[in-house]
Amino acid sequence: RLDVVETFHGLFFPGHLHTKDSLQQALQFSFQDSDVLIVSYPKSGTTWLQEIVTLISSKGDPHLSQTVPNWARAPWLEQHYFAALMAASPCAARIITTHLPHHLLGPTLKDSKAKVIYVSRNPKDVVVSFYHFHKMANFLPEAGSFPEFLNRFLEGTLHYGSWFDHIKGWTSQMNNVLHITYEEMSMDIRGAIERLSAHLQSPLLEDELNNCVKHCSFSSMKGNKMANYTLVNREIMDHNKGSFMRKGTIGDWKNMFTKELDTHFKSVFESKMEDCTLEFVWD
Ligand code: PPS
Repeated sequence: RLDVVETFHGLFFPGHLHTKDSLQQALQFSFQDSDVLIVSYPKSGTTWLQEIVTLISSKGDPHLSQTVPNWARAPWLEQHYFAALMAASPCAARIITTHLPHHLLGPTLKDSKAKVIYVSRNPKDVVVSFYHFHKMANFLPEAGSFPEFLNRFLEGTLHYGSWFDHIKGWTSQMNNVLHITYEEMSMDIRGAIERLSAHLQSPLLEDELNNCVKHCSFSSMKGNKMANYTLVNREIMDHNKGSFMRKGTIGDWKNMFTKELDTHFKSVFESKMEDCTLEFVWD
């Protein structure tokens, strides 16, 4: 069965990708100083970051990002195939991805100099993207109606847990974390790549930077089988029901949020983010 749920520290994870062991092992992982760790709540720009980091480490050469699937060149730490993929990785430096919240993985990273990148996105677009993804991803629970789904998002009962805990945890704790946003990348991809390459201590020449910009655009990635998830078996992700590279825009939430939903969202958001100074770009 694909909709098996694994629970870990009170959070739900898709059971076809995670086991108790794989989740537990993630928390015991030995990070190396040369590791790059991409951290995100789902639907916040994870795949985009996997592409950009691969391109930066390849100096803009798209060979790797066009021949190796994203989940093999930047595997998820908590998934059960992680160790096997890491062992077979063609990348010189290890690029690792995780959706785990800070309260679980933070202690593992405490004394590490691994280069951490936290990518976030405005939560209204996150929940809309996640909702559409639930409709095509057969390993996630039924999406239900959008108002129901939004409630589960606001309560923190969707898979991978609470968006609020995730962003507050990762942005308030560590000093070797680069926080970048989906919106920043949308509005100034060149500047975002420059900031990322500086954080990764991997400077780029002008031509290399141009190539990174070109190959991580929404249209390039939508056409790249190694990034658009069309290689995944239809029983796992049904591309007749949607597309992983769906819209790639800021503000699509306006097509799903009624006035009432927006008012409800705002009241929960304001109370949960009371202790947080982050600013969001909503459209
Ligand atoms: S996942 O399942 O957590 O790995 O998903 P994630 O990659 O974090 O998020 C998927 C959304 O990111 C959009 N995306 C992009 N937007 C702009 N430019 C580029 N290059 C790009 N690559 C991926 C993707 O379309 C999903 O957003 P929505 O709003 O659903 O289109």
